[in-house]
Amino acid sequence: MALIEGIRVQNFRALKDITIGRLSNLQNREALTPFTVVIGKNGSGKSTLFDAFGFISDCLNSGVENACDSKQRGGYDRLRTMETTDPIGFEIYYREGPQDRPITYELWISLDKSGRPFVESEILKQRRKGQKHGRPYPFLRLNKGIGKVWKGEEALEADNTTEDAASESVELTDLRQLGIATLGTLKEHPRIKRFRDFLKGWYLSYFYPDAARSLPTAGPQRHLNMHGDNIGNVVQFMEREHKSRFEGILKNIALRIPGIKKIDTHETEDKRVLLRFNDGAFNDPFYAQQMSDGTLKLFAYMLLMEDPNPPPFICIEEPENGLYHKLLDSIAKEFRSHATGARNTPQIFVTTHQPYFVDALEPKEVWILEKQDDGCSKIMRASDISLVKNLADEGLPLGGLWYSDYMDAR
Ligand SMILES: Nc1ncnc2c1ncn2[C@@H]1O[C@H](COP(=O)(O)OP(=O)(O)OP(=O)(O)O)[C@@H](O)[C@H]1O
Ligand SMILES: [Mg+2]
Repeated sequence: MALIEGIRVQNFRALKDITIGRLSNLQNREALTPFTVVIGKNGSGKSTLFDAFGFISDCLNSGVENACDSKQRGGYDRLRTMETTDPIGFEIYYREGPQDRPITYELWISLDKSGRPFVESEILKQRRKGQKHGRPYPFLRLNKGIGKVWKGEEALEADNTTEDAASESVELTDLRQLGIATLGTLKEHPRIKRFRDFLKGWYLSYFYPDAARSLPTAGPQRHLNMHGDNIGNVVQFMEREHKSRFEGILKNIALRIPGIKKIDTHETEDKRVLLRFNDGAFNDPFYAQQMSDGTLKLFAYMLLMEDPNPPPFICIEEPENGLYHKLLDSIAKEFRSHATGARNTPQIFVTTHQPYFVDALEPKEVWILEKQDDGCSKIMRASDISLVKNLADEGLPLGGLWYSDYMDAR
């Protein structure tokens, strides 16, 4: 399974410089767990970290200028940490599989003379085959769109030019697009292609119940989209292709929400798909339009988790909103049971405010964000706070420790 072992974010709003997990130059740190949860007070930077993933994804899909200027972000100047002139930067330390050599991707985004954001530099690097230690070498190195790329599966930058025959000079025509977006479409760069595909596959959940109440055109669809407005189409797909898996979801839902006996779809005459919920008490079903927010949300998460081909990386912000507090512990466990690190399972990243959700977690899965006096946020792993770790080892639930103010990242 692909795993982001660590990420560093620099000069992105309140995240002036934070690192979670392991990086190529921070090898003594423990890698991120397949299930990672970030907690923190209001204004501590949770949504900012969630949006850092969204921003990287948007940079790949629509270019850095559009990513900066999207409605909720309001342009580069608002995105860059106040009072700094340094560029916005990200470093992703990632492993395609447990046996694969990790890859580091570095991305820096600056403003050009006319005030437009552009890709200042991009690097993809890896250790040489057979090397367990030492520094990684680039197989993509771009500075202001000009640089070199190394073809195939093994070639890396060499210390002398005669060995460096596998390199090729590149010059990009559009500095608003990521180099990996362009080069990742070429057959001769399989490593870049796989990394780009991995980024393309990230799923950021912006689910809202009203989206699930819309009436999409009928037709099965494999994956739930970000807002969840194709939920009926996904149910059609599951009913057709994965009947027993879908029945498992229904059983699971029935355990958690009283009175949900059956969920199915109905196609209207004008070929729209209606999602029907039968509660056993009445003969006629309810439609999604009549169902409660929490039911729709829980159902959407279940569908997302039971996707036979799940996204490699799933980010969910505050999944607790709208859910009954006694469900939170089991939702957290459900997420964890899917983010196991096994092949074809997702890595799941969640932000939350809810101690009941955190109660189900282990200290190394939890990160605490805290705003410092200088206005910038600091992040700390709960397992690095020895008192918290000791108390958790003795069986005290983490959410309770958080509630009682034991989790202080300062
Ligand atoms: N350009 C910037 N430079 C420095 N700080 C910024 C910048 N833009 C926003 N901030 C600060 O970042 C803070 C973090 O906001 P964020 O929305 O990430 O917090 P949060 O943890 O999600 O809070 P909540 O729990 O209320 O949702 C904001 O309150 C704001 O003070
Ligand atoms: Mg927030």
